[in-house]
Amino acid sequence: MSNRMWGGRFAAGPDAIMEEINASIGYDKRFFRQDIAGSIAHANMLAATGIISKDDKNSITAALADLQKDIEQNKFNFSRALEDIHMNIESALAQKIGDPAARLHTARSRNDQVATDFRLYVRDVVDLLVGQISSLQIALVKRADEEAETIMPGFTHLQTAQPVTLGHHLLAYVEMLSRDYHRFLDARKRINISPLGAAALAGTSFPIDREMTAKELGFEKPAANSLDAVSDRDFVIETLSAASICAMHLSRFAEELVIWSTPQFGFVRLSDRFSTGSSIMPQKRNPDAAELIRAKIGRIFGAQVAMTIVMKGLPLTYSKDMQEDKEGAFDAFDTLSLSLAAMTGMVDDISFNRPEMEKAAGAGFSTATDLADWLVRTLNMPFRDAHHVTGEIVALAEKNQCTLEQLSIEQMQSVENNITPAVFEVLGVKNSVNSRTSYGGTAPKNVREQVKIWQKILKG
Ligand code: ARG
Repeated sequence: MSNRMWGGRFAAGPDAIMEEINASIGYDKRFFRQDIAGSIAHANMLAATGIISKDDKNSITAALADLQKDIEQNKFNFSRALEDIHMNIESALAQKIGDPAARLHTARSRNDQVATDFRLYVRDVVDLLVGQISSLQIALVKRADEEAETIMPGFTHLQTAQPVTLGHHLLAYVEMLSRDYHRFLDARKRINISPLGAAALAGTSFPIDREMTAKELGFEKPAANSLDAVSDRDFVIETLSAASICAMHLSRFAEELVIWSTPQFGFVRLSDRFSTGSSIMPQKRNPDAAELIRAKIGRIFGAQVAMTIVMKGLPLTYSKDMQEDKEGAFDAFDTLSLSLAAMTGMVDDISFNRPEMEKAAGAGFSTATDLADWLVRTLNMPFRDAHHVTGEIVALAEKNQCTLEQLSIEQMQSVENNITPAVFEVLGVKNSVNSRTSYGGTAPKNVREQVKIWQKILKG
């Protein structure tokens, strides 16, 4: 049998393999709500402009609302022969109400329909994700507040560099997530443009009102060029790009949690809720959730690359290639949403080992920069000279297998005669972090100020 929806020209039905490669219903049924909302807006507009009768419009919109309930209650039979969500719904509508259903597709094509549906879907995704990003930020700010004074090593090259506060470290992720949040909202502006009424590619000769459908669907305005409207998928790529960057941030934090939870570091203990055991080694606590979040960037960025490659070189306007925009994007958005939820749960539950962190903060001569700064400030030494003197003192401590603080004043003076006992004030990690009060610095005082600012932002 030829296709009921477009079979006029076809004598035979498609090959089974053709049907399999062609159908998208297996995944595009996900946006049935958006498809129905788009059809209702279109029907309302067709009636308002006198293109269809009010009675037809009423029966179409009532039946579409019923179909939505059928799908929600799993009472709808999706058919692969009908290819996609658009034709499945239209066919079911025809079965329900007959003739008026056939008028719904006036001045519309699946090309503007699918572009509209997917924009509505991605817009909903963005709204969900920005809410989840805020929740993670709230969790991080709460922990940063509690850990404003907790001292830990700050790293460069993953080598101990200078002591920092844990609150400061956690707030670094709040900053990253804030950029992610705004990246999504910025993408949303470009998502929120209505393709509906572009029809197949060239617009239509019917007196449609595109402002009206755009408004009803919550779009900012109709797309100005019909060719662009049906062939653009950069709104998907842009949102995937924002998702990739966000997933990359989560991956970095996840990696830190993996490292910090090793017995060698011992900085954190992940809760039982977010750890697993080993089937053979009873002592193990594995940070599986963190490891998985670390890895999820792979499929999210993969979807972005895949979609960019699908679109590369495609001539205007619609090509069936573009049906490939959905599966990877769905998976990527689901994955990011799950990762954000898991990370928020981990941050809520994690326990920080303050003594272990502070102990590690003092190792590796982490206050050497403080010593050099002291030489500059107190002895008026040029910084490069101070750097050199400090290097010699560090070497001396290394030779004596002690910390900088544990060197005697005589030992220090053997390197630089003018050093006085006042130097010991800056050699402790606590003094070091307390002194870093420059704007954006790690001092507990700064952390508390930033926490207040974030609390205000995240409350609104
Ligand atoms: N399922 C199709 C897609 O996702 C809908 C658009 C089909 N348009 C067409 N001209 N065959 O892209």
